[in-house]
Amino acid sequence: MIKKVMLAALSMFLLGVLAACGTSGDSSEESNGTIVMGTSADFPPFESFTPEGEYEGFDIDLAHKVAEELNYDLEIEDMSFDGLIGSLQAERVDMVMAGMSATDDRKENVDFSVEYHHSGEMFVTQKDSEVTSLEDLEGQTLGVQLGTIQEEGAKELQDEYGFEIKEMDEATTLIQELKTGRVDVGYMDKTVAEGYIEEQDLAGFDDPTTSSPGMAIAFPKGSDLVEDVNEVLEQLIEDGTVEELEEKWELTEE
Ligand code: ARG
Repeated sequence: MIKKVMLAALSMFLLGVLAACGTSGDSSEESNGTIVMGTSADFPPFESFTPEGEYEGFDIDLAHKVAEELNYDLEIEDMSFDGLIGSLQAERVDMVMAGMSATDDRKENVDFSVEYHHSGEMFVTQKDSEVTSLEDLEGQTLGVQLGTIQEEGAKELQDEYGFEIKEMDEATTLIQELKTGRVDVGYMDKTVAEGYIEEQDLAGFDDPTTSSPGMAIAFPKGSDLVEDVNEVLEQLIEDGTVEELEEKWELTEE
């Protein structure tokens, strides 16, 4: 009898050991840590908030995939686009995905992954606007988001085309200002502009001067993550995952 009880106890003990092995055997699956990603969630379909306050969009999905492949947890922090590069430089975030174009200027301050999407640029107007070309911009107020390539681009075009520039913190505000007539034209990435034009019944025309580089993930200079993320990104581009996400979020490639 005692023997039986002991046997039972022993097998329970062994089972326990096995179970413990099971979990510790999974240690290769244990998270490598947390990647804190900065974004500016005012830019659908790349990043925005659902009505419930959850992050959503192409960048958000792609970031989750990359983190998952590298076995990291992902934490997302929303901030103004204009503050993203500074946050990387201060290493307050580990990476940034925000539809950010990998420009040479930015490359002086941050490192970029391979490019994962390319968008042109567009001017957005109200549907009945008479502004349909660069020449019509004279005397108009042009809205741009602070810190974007469009802010810079607008400054370059301003002398030649004679418009006023109004800078805004958020791309969503820019669209509101356009709808309420406080700016006449919005200048933004084409992929995003096209969505707003369709959804908010606006109009627009392509920027014929655009030569913007593709969008990429940004990191603090010298970050160890760059190489690992690039490997995964290249694989996700190659195996069609990025294309699938582009279809899901209806991104048009330029
Ligand atoms: N592609 C443009 C840039 O890099 C605009 C990006 C704006 N992104 C955003 N999440 N608001 O300057």
